[in-house]
Amino acid sequence: MVGVKILIVSLLVGISAYHFFSSETISYGMVYGKRVLVTGSSTGIGEQIAYQFAQMGAHLVLTARREQRLQEVTRKCLELGASSADYVVSDMTNLTSAQEVAQIATKKLGSLDYLVLNHIGGSGSFGTFQGDMDSLLSSMTVNFLSYVQLTATALSALKQSNGSIVIMSSLSGRFGAPFTTSYCAAKFALEGFYSSLRRECSLQKNNISVTVAVLGFIDTENAVKKVGDKVTMTASPKEDCAKEVVKAAVLRQSELFYPYWSIKPLVLLKDWAPEFMGSLLDKFYVLENIK
Ligand SMILES: NC(=O)c1ccc[n+]([C@@H]2O[C@H](COP(=O)([O-])OP(=O)(O)OC[C@H]3O[C@@H](n4cnc5c(N)ncnc54)[C@H](OP(=O)(O)O)[C@@H]3O)[C@@H](O)[C@H]2O)c1
Ligand SMILES: *[C@@H]1O[C@H](CO)[C@@H](O)[C@H](O)[C@H]1NC(C)=O
Ligand SMILES: *[C@@H]1O[C@H](CO)[C@@H](O)[C@H](O)[C@H]1NC(C)=O
Ligand SMILES: *[C@@H]1O[C@H](CO)[C@@H](O)[C@H](O)[C@H]1NC(C)=O
Repeated sequence: MVGVKILIVSLLVGISAYHFFSSETISYGMVYGKRVLVTGSSTGIGEQIAYQFAQMGAHLVLTARREQRLQEVTRKCLELGASSADYVVSDMTNLTSAQEVAQIATKKLGSLDYLVLNHIGGSGSFGTFQGDMDSLLSSMTVNFLSYVQLTATALSALKQSNGSIVIMSSLSGRFGAPFTTSYCAAKFALEGFYSSLRRECSLQKNNISVTVAVLGFIDTENAVKKVGDKVTMTASPKEDCAKEVVKAAVLRQSELFYPYWSIKPLVLLKDWAPEFMGSLLDKFYVLENIK
């Protein structure tokens, strides 16, 4: 146990030094005129990611199911300084429709520099697995297969532009957190697919960057509604989260951990001391509110 503690402390010192000395910044010129598709951008983190790109003068295409929300977000993007902003209404449970979104966006924009895959849906609620195959299938379709479909359709444009793919993952994409089986399954699938794709691009000298954002609890309206009374974790601000995601994407980093200090140590811990990590996380669940 003493050995493990010394290991953890030296590791924390190491990563904090690395984190400190590798803090780069991005500038307006790095994003101005870039062509960006953001999925799930009618609300939450996706909406904030759109605003970050808009402020730096990108061309944007937004997508989600709710047209009125998309109209409002598009208008705000233009106010914030987007070079252009448009939207496509689409439901990602339909993979043909996912394919169309990538085609329409690439056509509207002329090409594509950033494919930001962020939407989250499916009928999975926060609770015990009770053998519900329908909710697993819908989660895998909306939260995994549609991401791959969008990527497949946009890949040739991304190759031509030396573009970037951004994937929204979670601590639940790295560690089997309880009461989120179908969500975890989809996020693990994303992590596997996109880390494999990243290696492939690298070996074949395809200059496409793949950024995976491993997030903790973020204060979006939907997340707070869904788990607010079931976990005692503090939610981090979606605006700051979006800013860090865009920065990592523009710097073509492979991974982002946000908030860094609550996520990175857990990710490091989970292979060495999975039982210990499980018991640390267990304390955050309010079991009497979970069915
Ligand atoms: N918030 C957190 O605590 C947290 C933690 C870790 C990771 N993340 C990840 O961060 C990403 C964003 O999370 P968030 O909290 O911002 O989510 P959110 O606020 O619930 O937003 C989800 C977005 O996806 C869209 N969407 C839902 N179902 C869809 C469907 N069937 N077809 C097309 N679009 C659909 C929604 O728009 P419409 O309803 O208009 O379709 C909305 O724009 C997700 O990938 C999530 O897993 C979030
Ligand atoms: C899926 O989307 C395609 C293309 O938009 C459409 O033609 C088809 O009817 C949709 N399928 C379902 C089941 O809604
Ligand atoms: C890959 O593309 C990026 C963005 O266009 C560029 O900055 C970088 O120099 C390219 N990398 C190589 C190895 O050419
Ligand atoms: C893309 O990257 C390659 C190297 O990987 C470079 O030779 C080429 O000029 C870049 N193209 C663009 C459009 O930036």
